Amino acid sequence: MPTRCRNFCCGIILWLILLVTTPGIPAGVSPSTDSLRALGAARGFWIGAGDIHISPLSADAQYRDVLAREFNILTPGVAMKFSEVQPDIDRFTFDTADAVVAFARAHDMRVRGHTLVWHEALPQWLTAGQFGPDRLGAILKDHILTEVGHFRGRVSAWDVVNEGLDGGGGLRDTIWLRALGPDYIDQAFRWARQADPDVPLFYNDFGAEGMGPKSDGLYRLVRGMLERGVPIRGVGLQMHVSLDDGPRPADIAANMRRLTALGLEIQITEMDVRIQDTPGPLAEKLAAQARYYHDILRACLAVPKCTALLTWGISDRDSWIPGFFGHADAPLLFDAAFAPKPAYQALARALAGR
Ligand code: XIL
Repeated sequence: MPTRCRNFCCGIILWLILLVTTPGIPAGVSPSTDSLRALGAARGFWIGAGDIHISPLSADAQYRDVLAREFNILTPGVAMKFSEVQPDIDRFTFDTADAVVAFARAHDMRVRGHTLVWHEALPQWLTAGQFGPDRLGAILKDHILTEVGHFRGRVSAWDVVNEGLDGGGGLRDTIWLRALGPDYIDQAFRWARQADPDVPLFYNDFGAEGMGPKSDGLYRLVRGMLERGVPIRGVGLQMHVSLDDGPRPADIAANMRRLTALGLEIQITEMDVRIQDTPGPLAEKLAAQARYYHDILRACLAVPKCTALLTWGISDRDSWIPGFFGHADAPLLFDAAFAPKPAYQALARALAGR
């Protein structure tokens, strides 16, 4: 079945599920006072899961149950990306993303909009289209106005620009930079603001969590945006890290402090902690992974303007890591059978202030 058709069918199935279960929580989910979301809500903190895909959401009750029971915010994995919502130059399709948003709404969860401007997940009509700079600028503006307009009032934040920096902290060489010049980031934020006067707008990136050239570049970028009056609310730190070479929690805390000192909000948007490349017995690695999750959440909670932490996926079964890195791993809070791992208990402890 073509992907678009599959997505559409999954969307319909999910709508049916929502119809019989809305409002309220689907059968099997009991409101829990010691869930991560209850612990988070008690201190006004958003604890979430990202990389949410329509197929398991439609087909897998356990996936739905754990998502709704444990988290109060989610991010779609691909449903809001360019190639998904604008498969043709003159056609937008929001069925799948609407179904994910409806699930969140039915379970009193927030949604992070992800993402408007990225160098990946671009449709072929766009990358192969040989458009000149003016035309590409008009295409991007139309994309942003249409998508942000569509979800107005229904998402709690937008990742307006994703991964716009290179490893040295300069602007990444992308189709957008080449066509529109370095102003494209400012422009994208202004167009998003035009389409929704209220939604918080974020810049989101990876590898800029600790201290170093890339996070220095991030700091300069967002400081400049604020000086120019660009409507940026905050920074998303993706936090795809490995136990081996993850940034030190103290450096992450220092980076968060300098960003929030500019008046910006911070959200940890896509956390996962790989353990595969670290030597040692599994139980020790899982314990070290739990400590790392705990330290990062503690660092975030110590900064008043760090308002959310989302992992990138729910269970080790669903993680994008094996597909991307080409080997098995166990980077998330739940194991492949959805049993909570030590990392889950560690986040619960941190949320409870322990
Ligand atoms: C990834 C998703 O996890 C995959 O399911 C998808 O096939 C490709 O995109 N940084 C981001 C995310 O901002 O959007 C990426 O998500 C992972 C890296």
